[in-house]
Amino acid sequence: MPVITCIQDLRRLYKRRVPKMFYDYCESGSWTEQTFRENSSDFADIHLRQRVAVDLSDRSTASQMIGQDVAMPVALAPIGMAGMQCADGEIKAARAAEKFGVPSTLSTMSICSLEDVAEATTKPFWFQLYVMRDQDFVRDIIQRARDVKCSALVLTLDLQILGQRHKDLKNGLSAPPKPTFTNIINLATKWRWGLGMLGTRRRSFGNIVGHAKGVSDISSLMEWTSEQFYLHLDWKTVAQIKEMWGGPLILKGINDAQDAKMAVSIGADAIIVSNHGGRQLDGALSSIRTLSAIVDAVGDKIELHLDSGIRSGQDVLKALALGATGTYIGRAYLYGLGAMGEFGVRTALEIIQKELDLTMALCGHRDIKTVDRDILLLPPGFEINR
Ligand code: GLV
Repeated sequence: MPVITCIQDLRRLYKRRVPKMFYDYCESGSWTEQTFRENSSDFADIHLRQRVAVDLSDRSTASQMIGQDVAMPVALAPIGMAGMQCADGEIKAARAAEKFGVPSTLSTMSICSLEDVAEATTKPFWFQLYVMRDQDFVRDIIQRARDVKCSALVLTLDLQILGQRHKDLKNGLSAPPKPTFTNIINLATKWRWGLGMLGTRRRSFGNIVGHAKGVSDISSLMEWTSEQFYLHLDWKTVAQIKEMWGGPLILKGINDAQDAKMAVSIGADAIIVSNHGGRQLDGALSSIRTLSAIVDAVGDKIELHLDSGIRSGQDVLKALALGATGTYIGRAYLYGLGAMGEFGVRTALEIIQKELDLTMALCGHRDIKTVDRDILLLPPGFEINR
């Protein structure tokens, strides 16, 4: 067992333990993957100011996201098919988050259902919604989220159509994997994953199968997206969903100041500055680069969260210093999940928190809530004008 000291160690172990098609699904962006790469490399372009001779006792990373207490402002992002990376993956991730004291967000396209996760946890989690063409399904799943006491709805706005990820097409991505020659050869080397999958009944899209009209089986996210996702999704639809849900609403996938202003006018509680981890519009600016313009436009009117590209506590700190009050990790915890299940997610959260705490301290702060852009040395393109 290797010594795990950073998120990239988890990624290496994850790569060894999980079938190639699911590793590739996680570790890719759309088309040329420019945005996928820049989401991370742009974080690296921001430098930090080293400060000294500051009392560093009694430090705290505790904060709030949409009024809910969090051990650190880092939530688990919704991830489609997390239960294919590891048996019962969504349950394990939600449990790890609950024990750690951070929010977890269940995807519409999860393997474990809303009810499965609710049964296995004790505190409310958040639910991410993709709007489908089938209005009854949408009404029903919002009601199901309410019934299991989800404490926020995260409505995704940047995926009515799926950006093309070459590897998924080449691998014939499906849940569960089809028994092709290539898959069988690959799966034969992933005994830990296989044993887990044999031990669970959850191997398809738990929120959909048996709930959407006439759907007794779906295996391909790509097929389902192209047939079922609601192409007409617009601000009027967003307002309708807000009304239907009636609770805290977070809009995910805003990457432009103009759209951020629309989100404010709709009355959302928070927005997630996001380009879907570089998986949708290839060529879009990285989230961390877009954040400044959005802070300028609406930073004093709505809570700003950020995802896409975060792989360390340093990245979290930079996003917070630039004006986000919350962040999300996706791949960073998925590596842990695929590598070591619930323990792996906990390990990912511990790594991020330790990096966040120590880096905050080395920048001269003791409380995450006092960190501001003063700790940053920003290259051109990241400036805040306010
Ligand atoms: C779904 O959210 C995906 O990016 O595949």
